[in-house]
Amino acid sequence: MHSVVELDSVRKVLDGRSVLDGADLAVYEGQTLVIIGCSGTGKSVTLKHIVGLMEPDEGQVRVFGELISGQHERIKNRIRLKIGLVFQDGALFDFMNVYDNVAFVLREIYSLPEREIRQKVEWALDLVGLAGIEAKMPSELSGGMRKRVAIARAIVYRPSLMLYDEPTAGLDPIRADIIDSLILRLKDEANTTSIVVTHDLNSAYKIADRICMLHEGRFIIDGAPDEIRKTDNPVVRQFIEGRSSGPIRF
Ligand SMILES: Nc1ncnc2c1ncn2[C@@H]1O[C@H](COP(=O)(O)OP(=O)(O)O)[C@@H](O)[C@H]1O
Ligand SMILES: [Mg+2]
Repeated sequence: MHSVVELDSVRKVLDGRSVLDGADLAVYEGQTLVIIGCSGTGKSVTLKHIVGLMEPDEGQVRVFGELISGQHERIKNRIRLKIGLVFQDGALFDFMNVYDNVAFVLREIYSLPEREIRQKVEWALDLVGLAGIEAKMPSELSGGMRKRVAIARAIVYRPSLMLYDEPTAGLDPIRADIIDSLILRLKDEANTTSIVVTHDLNSAYKIADRICMLHEGRFIIDGAPDEIRKTDNPVVRQFIEGRSSGPIRF
């Protein structure tokens, strides 16, 4: 199996703190890897290293077998064209309608003809279940719809690697389920490799081939959902138990 993403002993100090402290990670082709971990542990920082928006102080990051850390912006940009990134805040351009938001990369980076752009935008919006909302402005959409538009914008150029930063945060269980199904569908239809950062263990169990936990700068566990559920690693247990809902109160 080819590893699509590889972190090799990555260390990153931010504000005097070792956020990543010798982190090792490998993600294989066609797999969905879910990263769990407490708030502020460096999950978003990890994704930023993978797209080359942050540089490790030590160690290396490879994507598609190619070094991205330490490379020129030109090389990073070429690699980034194969990566779809859904940011934690799902930020859209407020001043553009949905169509222009989703078309942005195809227009600005790929310079595709408008007819081809239209087909791709329609395909992506259809896939996220939002066909027909092209003319709406982001301010007219619910939080869940904005998240789905952000996903459409990331998948529209059919990247072979998708990175999702907390894609279901702030969504109710039904909306979260729609996003989970979408992540699964992309994996099935396009053999997309995905890394999903989430707090939501239900989603994690549903979509993951493997689950990793980031703790004190390293990935401390790596296993299939069933193994994670049953693990006796005390740190992981505490995380899981802290997140499962308590007894129903009347
Ligand atoms: N650009 C930055 N400059 C300084 N500190 C940062 C920066 N980005 C993140 N951090 C710090 O790194 C730590 C991990 O952040 P982050 O990766 O966002 O956590 P999370 O696991 O919640 O995604 C936090 O303490 C955060 O304050
Ligand atoms: Mg984060």
